[in-house]
Amino acid sequence: MNKPTDLAKRIIVALDVGNKEEAFRLVKQLEQAEIFKIGLKLFTFEGPSLFSKMKALRKKIFLDLKLHDIPNTVAEAVKSGVRHGVQMMTLHASGGSEMLARAVEAAASEAEKEGTTKPLLLAVTILTSLKGQELKEIGMTESLETQVLRLAELAHKEGVDGVVCSPQEIEIIRKEIGEDFLIVVPGIRPAWTAAHDQKRIMTPDQALHKGADYLVIGRPIIEASSPQKAFSKILEELNRSGHNSGSENST
Ligand code: C5P
Repeated sequence: MNKPTDLAKRIIVALDVGNKEEAFRLVKQLEQAEIFKIGLKLFTFEGPSLFSKMKALRKKIFLDLKLHDIPNTVAEAVKSGVRHGVQMMTLHASGGSEMLARAVEAAASEAEKEGTTKPLLLAVTILTSLKGQELKEIGMTESLETQVLRLAELAHKEGVDGVVCSPQEIEIIRKEIGEDFLIVVPGIRPAWTAAHDQKRIMTPDQALHKGADYLVIGRPIIEASSPQKAFSKILEELNRSGHNSGSENST
């Protein structure tokens, strides 16, 4: 699996804002950033009209809708994403092997049909908001690590490109699944920012050191007095720590 060499391309900025005006103000300020995550809030409000403008600004789209439905519906949603030129999409590994396999097949076949690059599909294992009692209530009684690993392995087996996981899960997933699987990690906090509601955080440097391929960072950048300076500061810190090796970008 190819990974980006350019560190700026390994930082995904979460556009957790309410409307397109705020979103594009940030995108234009963040010249160095290449990939932006559009999640449920912004997408539900603005819809796919966001995508053409992102493309005009030569930015890549990580569409984080965490798809989970019957295989045919998920496959069709993936095809729609491909037609809109989305580069990364999320889906729940717990949707099952057929849903995952159909999504993978849909991404490849639709990209071929459109003459575009296949988007990277990323599996969500267990939502980090779910813990102890709540997991038991939905019938998940094994240890969190066992479940995360089982779902990540299932996604890998079905051809999904990678996983979104918490910083604490990077090492075990990398060790058990190997290098041929992208690890995308939110819950990232530079030492100089607040944790907000993130409970198990890591600095960008620590997360890359543990084996993450992409870092998802929202509030430390988008709520900074200067988002651009915050992004540059993160990048400088990573460059100083020597995180500058890898191969070509596949997204
Ligand atoms: O502002 P912050 O850096 O905490 O934003 C992290 C982003 O990653 C948010 O868009 C959040 O929804 C997303 N995310 C997360 N934890 C997960 C999965 C996604 O924080 N387990």
